[in-house]
Amino acid sequence: MAYIEIVGGKQLSGEVNIQGSKNTVLPILAATLLINGVTKLNHCPRILDVEHMIEILIDIGCTVTWEGSSIIVDARGLSTDIVPTDLVKKMRSSIILMGALLGRTHSAVISYPGGCTIGARPINFHLEAFKQMNVVLEEEDGLIKCLTSGIKGADIYFPSPSVGATENVILAAVLGSGKTRIFNAAREPEILELCKFLISAGARIYGSGTGRIEIEGVAALHQTEYTAPSDRIVAGTYLAAAAGAGGDVVLRGIGCGSLYVVIQTLKRMGSRIKCKEDSISLHSDGTVRAVPEIITEPYPGFPTDMQSQIMSVLMKASGNSKIVEEIFEGRYQNVPEQARFGAQICLQDRVAHITGVPALKASEVSAGELRGGAALVIAGLMAEGKTIVNNPYHIQRGYEDICRDLRALGAQIEYKNE
Ligand code: EPU
Repeated sequence: MAYIEIVGGKQLSGEVNIQGSKNTVLPILAATLLINGVTKLNHCPRILDVEHMIEILIDIGCTVTWEGSSIIVDARGLSTDIVPTDLVKKMRSSIILMGALLGRTHSAVISYPGGCTIGARPINFHLEAFKQMNVVLEEEDGLIKCLTSGIKGADIYFPSPSVGATENVILAAVLGSGKTRIFNAAREPEILELCKFLISAGARIYGSGTGRIEIEGVAALHQTEYTAPSDRIVAGTYLAAAAGAGGDVVLRGIGCGSLYVVIQTLKRMGSRIKCKEDSISLHSDGTVRAVPEIITEPYPGFPTDMQSQIMSVLMKASGNSKIVEEIFEGRYQNVPEQARFGAQICLQDRVAHITGVPALKASEVSAGELRGGAALVIAGLMAEGKTIVNNPYHIQRGYEDICRDLRALGAQIEYKNE
């Protein structure tokens, strides 16, 4: 059984390069299907979710190879529109293949992804948008069959911003006919990156990064090369670790822009942070101040993907803090594991009240999902003594090698397999 062993209670110090962004690379891997040619993607993270997406691309006929941290996709051999169900179940975000397949082959068959540990995660926005774009949908035995005689531009109004639905509509629209306008589009940096990639391949997209995106369909996309930015959530996780454990760390390959609200929050909690164009440095003496309220929101608000990690840091704060999780209700499933470190955390629906303790106690805990697992690692670094985090598989879905990176920051942490 694999697990992570941490000997915590030590301050961190050192420098680390930040891996490529998972939530940028995943939709762009889907987008490579729109190019009847070869695409090179640089600075890709070697994580399980990316490996799963590559497995799907290979299964449906693409040739995919790694060259260092670059992925080369040749989508000329695309031979089926059926996304294998077992792989969809392994990785929920494979739903973004729908838009790309519809764009390239005018059809897609994919199993209904269903909920997951972090929430119900419906896909109604995706499906309603496709219907407006001339796609006929049929649901049978848990499979969604999508067929179109050709994607037609439409005005899509999302009830609230959705990253995946915005990406799916963009992917479907780039090779469609006419103009698609997305209102209340998600504004996450990952949307901007997807559009940057598609524009570099010849797509016509305007307004990405704003709540209103316009796509004018083009006849074909051409081969391109793209470099992914560093992962803002991985960076945020390591900043949180240093804020909680104390120390001086420098993260390389990322600036503060996409982490603005997280950095403001860490500053309110007592950390000193300096931003350069391509690095972030943090100093913390290990004491943490409580924060009256943190509410997770779509970008540019506080990211749900940093909620659990910040909660771990607040477990050591003097005073009471409050978190409101507005995006994924299931993210509090991790709380009972976090509470093993000794802090008092009371849950009322979407609200968590955290009463910090002066010192966390080391514990044996189990990761149940990606960010929750990372939050347990942070708590382990903050707690004096030996912590075991079981099921590290969940963490490996999004962190290339969290032990390697934290060791570079001076932590005593390693993967073990016994
Ligand atoms: N929603 C609907 N209907 C839909 C789609 C979304 O009601 O059809 C709701 C969701 O239930 C949620 C909210 O809208 O309450 C936002 O969900 P969104 O669609 O934006 O999430 P996603 O696209 O499924 C991506 C990231 C998540 C990240 C969220 C929010 C990828 C591959 N995943 O998910 O990343 O938490 O946006 O920022 O980009 C992670 O990396 O740990 C992770 C879960």
